[in-house]
Amino acid sequence: MLPRDTVAAFFVPVGAVMTKDHVSINREVWDKDAQNWVDLGKRLWSGPPQWGIWGAPETSVTLLPEDMTGLDAVELGCGTGYVSGWMARRGARVTGIDVSSEQLATARQLADAYGAEITFVQGDAEATGFDAGRFDFAISEYGAAIWCRPEVWLREAWRLLRPGGSLVFLGNHPLSIICTPLNGAPCEPVLHRPYRGLWGVDWTEVEIDPSGVTFNLSIADWFALFTEIGFTVTRYQELYAPDEAAETRCWVPSDWAKNYPMEQVWHLSKPV
Ligand SMILES: C[S@@+](CC[C@H](N)C(=O)[O-])C[C@H]1O[C@@H](n2cnc3c(N)ncnc32)[C@H](O)[C@@H]1O
Repeated sequence: MLPRDTVAAFFVPVGAVMTKDHVSINREVWDKDAQNWVDLGKRLWSGPPQWGIWGAPETSVTLLPEDMTGLDAVELGCGTGYVSGWMARRGARVTGIDVSSEQLATARQLADAYGAEITFVQGDAEATGFDAGRFDFAISEYGAAIWCRPEVWLREAWRLLRPGGSLVFLGNHPLSIICTPLNGAPCEPVLHRPYRGLWGVDWTEVEIDPSGVTFNLSIADWFALFTEIGFTVTRYQELYAPDEAAETRCWVPSDWAKNYPMEQVWHLSKPV
């Protein structure tokens, strides 16, 4: 686990000499991996909203306002842009920001294919450069939610929202991180890492499927951070694998995820 650093950009040693910040590392990871996400993006653009690793239907988890007519919405770490597409379908004026030009290329192609008018911008969700108070609704599904420093991107999301605005984000449950072996193998019903002080996790040099740098907090630390920023928590959900799930997805075996929450969803509001 990585030491918490709430001020400076977060640097990871690469090889013996260089260091790179987490945003550059994650951009490279996603630029390289983007082709592997095109088919999933196509499938999700074409259907009704569903969420997370096992596709929890929107009709049961309700992450989006049903009617988004006239709302200004932003997706932070939009990837292939299907969440942006769903919001546009519900009537929102949507902006999607992502650090990876390759992911955005897919998002733009799919938006064109579906005739969706969405503004896609390349940038860092920790420092978007958008005007303050520009949005009514912000969302991240496995985007900023896991790839950005919580204390930085959540302050940025707060800045972007109008009073009365909402932020919803979905990512790994902290339990799934601490149950993941240090070599990056699928999670097990064993505590492999400390829960106390959970923050950055460097997956760049793990033996099995190395990737980038992700972030998570203990539940108490998430609450403390929301309170410090000024967000009100309106709902908290823990997601499990459905009964019929039978395989391992994204390093989470279904047997594990039927007994332990693999994902969490925070619903926050910025008070008026
Ligand atoms: C798993 S995708 C999630 C997005 C979307 N739900 C999807 O699956 O296509 C993660 C995305 O987060 C983006 N990302 C990582 N770090 C970011 C940052 N600092 N700012 C904006 N986007 C970032 C990546 O480029 C990637 O497209």
